Amino acid sequence: MGERIYVFDTTLRDGEQSPGASMNAAEKLRLAIQLEKLGVDAIEAGFPAASRGDLEAVRAIASKVKRSEVVALARATKNDIDLAWEAIKEARRPRLHTFLATSDIHLKYKLNMTRDEVLRASVEAVKYAKSLTENVEFSAEDGSRSDRDFLCKVFEAVIEAGATVVNLPDTVGYAVPDEFGELIRYVLTHTPNVHKAVLSVHCHNDLGLATANTLYALKAGARQVEVTINGIGERAGNASLEEIVMALYTRKEHLGLETAINTSEIYPTSRLVSMITGIIVQPNKAVVGANAFAHEAGIHQDGVLKNALTYEIMRPEMVGLSSSQLVLGKHSGRHAFKEKLAQLGYDLTDNEVEKLFVRFKELADKRKEITDEDIEAIVAEEILRIPDVYELEYLNVVSGTVAVPTATVKLKIKGEEVQGAGFGVGPIDATFNTIAKLTGSRSRLLRFTVTAITGGMDAQGEVTVRLQENGLVALGKGADPDIITASAKAYVNGLNRLEYLKRTQARAAGTAVL
Ligand code: KIV
Ligand code: ZN
Repeated sequence: MGERIYVFDTTLRDGEQSPGASMNAAEKLRLAIQLEKLGVDAIEAGFPAASRGDLEAVRAIASKVKRSEVVALARATKNDIDLAWEAIKEARRPRLHTFLATSDIHLKYKLNMTRDEVLRASVEAVKYAKSLTENVEFSAEDGSRSDRDFLCKVFEAVIEAGATVVNLPDTVGYAVPDEFGELIRYVLTHTPNVHKAVLSVHCHNDLGLATANTLYALKAGARQVEVTINGIGERAGNASLEEIVMALYTRKEHLGLETAINTSEIYPTSRLVSMITGIIVQPNKAVVGANAFAHEAGIHQDGVLKNALTYEIMRPEMVGLSSSQLVLGKHSGRHAFKEKLAQLGYDLTDNEVEKLFVRFKELADKRKEITDEDIEAIVAEEILRIPDVYELEYLNVVSGTVAVPTATVKLKIKGEEVQGAGFGVGPIDATFNTIAKLTGSRSRLLRFTVTAITGGMDAQGEVTVRLQENGLVALGKGADPDIITASAKAYVNGLNRLEYLKRTQARAAGTAVL
């Protein structure tokens, strides 16, 4: 047995800081439930001081999650800590996470504080948090660029004040592995009471080194990793959970460390995050990319057929990639469909399955074979992405070489039906113009992408749009065998996300200082 590493997932907090990656409260709750199933030790559910919406989302998660700790982030102020505590106080295992920058650059240009002031404010924040709960984490923001002795002094003082976890973030992704490992060793040997707390690391990926830095830190003695699914997060993202966990698992003879993660839930969780946020996983992404287990070269294929160990260091099933051959088509019944959903890792109510089955039958009437990806796209649309304000009811488009492209659209807006028609330079333009007219949206379309979910002329098209309005950016996704319908769904999904952002004054507007 290796020594235990604690996995602290921050997909819902730092991950949500990825540009465009907003999630509404219901989507966050669904993801939190999946993270618990994955077996993470702690779920950082949000930053309650950022908005009332964030606070309510964290509160909903705190009331549902039982096994994992539920963490709320707070700056080192009484007001932030009060809001964070209000959000998690009903959790079975709450943790308050407060932070303050310790690097001279941040002290001088951002905080306008002296080292002594930072030391005092950190201690005060931890003491106050400790008066509310036993379980308190302190993060020294920009820790990797801080003066080492000052960092140790802050850690010593906050542990003395009651911090149970001290976190050393590489906030700007500046560290390189041997240097970061050395910093961890320094902290462990120069902070006299460090054994009274868990030492944690939180690495960003600006130089593509987040995973390597995290592993070096673990080798040097850190025992908690702060990570996100698919590595999403501020700027270039955070260290990715799946990479760290599978590195520890695959190389345990070398590293001698282990986590409590149920690795077969990795792939379903990765898909869920991608479907909810609209952030596509790059095909060559380690562990969860579409090509991670695909063998193209003839020599490799031959080797894998003879013995998978020749070119595979992990079995796909280990990360939850289904090896099942259950292929669905128009003759498949409810039972097979339900079985397939379970294989894909979805735990759904009978009502939800019924709703999906109707969509599945519609699609099966148009296509011979329905792939796992097709089903996932349906699940995402019907169940995972929860509409806020707008729902697409009906779309009819006339286009061609002679006709002026015209779209007729019926939407439900907060439960009420509205209908209208409009023109455009092409069928998609006509559709978007009409939807914009009906919703009164002033958003700008920044990006529009169409991909085929699977191969073949009858493949479902998946459309992603990126919309911007008053500094807020949202992604929308839609899938359908008809790409104009897929585009309309994506546009409506994007508008829903913008509405959510507007309501919660989300971080994209820069309201939260992180
Ligand atoms: O990157 C960072 O420093 C953070 C802290 C708030 C932990 O996200
Ligand atoms: Zn961060």
